[in-house]
Amino acid sequence: MCGIVGYTGNRQVLDILIEGLEKLEYRGYDSAGIAVHNGEMKIFKSQGNISSLKSKLPSRFEGTSGIAHTRWATHGIPNERNAHPHLSFSGNLVMVHNGIIENSEEIREELFANGYTFVSETDSEVLLNLIDYEYVVSNDNILQALINAQAKAKGSYAIVLLDKNRPGEQVICRHGSPLVMGLDDSGCYTASDIYAISEYATRFVFPENGDIIFAGTDGIREVYTAEGKKKSLEEKKYIVDGRLSGKDGFDHYMMKEIFQQPEIARDLLSKPLPVVSEKYSAEEIDNIFRTIKGVTILGCGTSWHSGLIGRYLLERLARIPANTEYASEYRYRDPVIPSDYLVISISQSGETADTLAANTLVREAGAITLGILNVKNSTLERETDMQIYLEAGPEIGVASTKAYTAQLVRLAQLAERLAWVRGETVNSTLLNGDLRQMAETMTMILKRSGKLKMLADKYSDSNNFLFLGRGLNYPSALEGALKLKEISYIHAEGYPGAEMKHGPIALIDHDFPTMAIATDRENLSKMVSNIKEIKARNGRIIAIIQEGDESVRSIADDYFEIPNVPDLIAPMVTALPLQLFAYYISLNRGCNVDQPRNLAKSVTVE
Ligand code: G6P
Repeated sequence: MCGIVGYTGNRQVLDILIEGLEKLEYRGYDSAGIAVHNGEMKIFKSQGNISSLKSKLPSRFEGTSGIAHTRWATHGIPNERNAHPHLSFSGNLVMVHNGIIENSEEIREELFANGYTFVSETDSEVLLNLIDYEYVVSNDNILQALINAQAKAKGSYAIVLLDKNRPGEQVICRHGSPLVMGLDDSGCYTASDIYAISEYATRFVFPENGDIIFAGTDGIREVYTAEGKKKSLEEKKYIVDGRLSGKDGFDHYMMKEIFQQPEIARDLLSKPLPVVSEKYSAEEIDNIFRTIKGVTILGCGTSWHSGLIGRYLLERLARIPANTEYASEYRYRDPVIPSDYLVISISQSGETADTLAANTLVREAGAITLGILNVKNSTLERETDMQIYLEAGPEIGVASTKAYTAQLVRLAQLAERLAWVRGETVNSTLLNGDLRQMAETMTMILKRSGKLKMLADKYSDSNNFLFLGRGLNYPSALEGALKLKEISYIHAEGYPGAEMKHGPIALIDHDFPTMAIATDRENLSKMVSNIKEIKARNGRIIAIIQEGDESVRSIADDYFEIPNVPDLIAPMVTALPLQLFAYYISLNRGCNVDQPRNLAKSVTVE
């Protein structure tokens, strides 16, 4: 989390930094700051988001080299003192950092013993002062200072350093945290995410772990490994997705992204599933799909929810054993990793620390890895054997919407493909026609958003919510509850229908409503029983039902009808009313829809 951006060249830097920060704000918005070196070093910081920082900047402000940061707090509360950029103890170095220094307390103690004091509570200032100390010890040799500091610091970092005595020069270093550098005729850009600089830069390089890079007005001057060996980095041209800019007339990115879903589904479903690989040919990929003995799916947050649905689809269609795991739990439990399993890591950003670490673990164990990801050139892309892209365009709203339904479409396509190559030919065509209708079905739901606004108006005062679903609707219940929690700060729990009796039913009363996702025909009579059990305890029910279903409509307090779809693809459809319901409640409660408190879009720390 946290976003960093830097520029050195012959253009005025302020607008580049501010625009870059605005595009990185999804990574955190606890505080923001910039430093510009225009002969003298100027630093401006502010608690809160980029607009607060902007209000603090002087109206005229020259300078062609600078760095900037937007923060998601890990060490130390979100205030101005803990905001980046930090100034080193000697006053010579200024730095922005994304990542976490795991042994910062140990290093802080050592630096204390050497007379250092600290202004902030952050691990970032500790890293900066470690570099500062090593700089002094190595007689102002910044390369040596970074070699020494990297040997001592444990954790993840992407940093950009300015040196008071070297105007125009920036030193960049990364280990673990995402970082891209861009070049154009005017100079050199650095950022946590390509979108922050893609408006300007035309050529890009992706620093590798441990790299130490010297950049100046003339571009990238020198690159060294963590051990100080000279190296070079390959430049890549990259076309950035045009679906980026602005809110397109919507009040929030989240709403824009909800409304993009039909178009994305249509695009994805208009072509056969592309599985990309530098390592394997198309025949080899099919052979892998044919011979694997099982599938493990890894992910976090919403991507874990889509993975739960993926498991159902893979088992149902391809008849292959599948399990879905929280990446964060999987990586630490010493798992048995069969080498004849395919391991799928799902991640919108391709940068979630736990997902990446779990992926590394399975790779090292010899499993074949497949990444399902949205952000191209992300770490997950580079660290998997095969990739499937979501092609959903940048998702800016912190609560994931379009990436989720794109993941579901991709997983359905993958399950069909596996079914086909594994000889489950009947199953492989099960979804075909219905998937093709997906975009139209989603559009019909969006046209009914007024009904969801009415429901949100009625239930906005509730402080607790239960979301229930059976079968494929159980992960949908988890996702619906997560959306509500994330953006409206209402306590919400997702449960499988049957499990409700093992605890949650004790919570039910008139003020604890239930969102019952009751579209699953196979389990409908059981879901009806669960709803009746809630009604018998004075609980209120909002039900999501298939059009024309009387059995639930007649007993629910309120309902929302989705157009008729087969059970297997209902989750792609029910996601939309759940997203809209959470959106309208969030608005009614005056919450920040796109930037909910305490959250960040890309969780690059454990
Ligand atoms: C954060 C985001 C969620 C997202 C999760 C996993 O918590 O706020 O929306 O689902 O990370 O992110 P990933 O990029 O790996 O899908």
